[in-house]
Amino acid sequence: MNTALFTLYLGVFKRIARTAALSPFDAQERHRLGELYALYSPPTPASDLPEDPYKLPKTDILELAHLDKNLLLEGVNECGFGHVTEFEVKVISQLVNQLQPRRIFEIGTFQGRTTLNMALNSPADAQIVTLDLPPSELNQTQMQIEKTEEMYVKKTESGERFKGHPLASKITQVFGDSATYDYSPYHHQMDLVFIDGSHAYEYVLSDTKNALQLVRKGGTILWHDYTNWEGVRRALNDYYQSGNPVFRNLRHIGGTSIAVLTVS
Ligand SMILES: C[S@@+](CC[C@H](N)C(=O)[O-])C[C@H]1O[C@@H](n2cnc3c(N)ncnc32)[C@H](O)[C@@H]1O
Repeated sequence: MNTALFTLYLGVFKRIARTAALSPFDAQERHRLGELYALYSPPTPASDLPEDPYKLPKTDILELAHLDKNLLLEGVNECGFGHVTEFEVKVISQLVNQLQPRRIFEIGTFQGRTTLNMALNSPADAQIVTLDLPPSELNQTQMQIEKTEEMYVKKTESGERFKGHPLASKITQVFGDSATYDYSPYHHQMDLVFIDGSHAYEYVLSDTKNALQLVRKGGTILWHDYTNWEGVRRALNDYYQSGNPVFRNLRHIGGTSIAVLTVS
């Protein structure tokens, strides 16, 4: 062992010994000891690591779109519960800007923040249909929605972000339960479908089946909340691992909770 390495190890040993001997009950020192341990302990063998819960291969926005710095964005900083993140609005807007979809269907309107930003970045003649569950139907849904998402349904208004906006004419708001809504007038017409309604496993399966009927060949489906809702993660993992070729190209967009599929 050369002298420099010996001196380094000696220094580390002295620090650990000092921290352990002098301040075993001091929280700050204990924290430092933990940090030193993590720094110098051998890496965890791959076999001991917990199983990766995300089964979708990753892509990223740089791979999916030529970035346009002149996106039109509104209300991106105003996020919070029920909204997509600031970065996610930008990613969705970049994708809309890249794909130039003329027909878009959104499941789950909420305040309409993503709806509006899709309207801002789609072609002038694009039409967006956005579906929301009215609070009056909360207890009559076909399947059980998650308890923790009821607050997004129980709101006094839906779509307030685009109401009265100059681009509101691009948006058609419809209401109903996504599991029983009659999508037939829109079948095979949609260039883009954004799924962000109920996050319960059964709903994600059902909304995905409906999205596959809505989208035209070559169209795109986006799902929100792949990384943060167990129901969405499990449903998309199951679809990806089912061996069904439709889902072969299902991907998770890195740095977001969004999953993407181009339907061939
Ligand atoms: C997380 S919010 C959607 C956020 C919105 N897409 C955005 O990007 O700002 C979920 C929305 O889905 C709606 N929703 C929940 N269950 C639904 C169902 N079964 N059918 C239709 N909409 C549903 C809720 O009312 C709520 O407005």
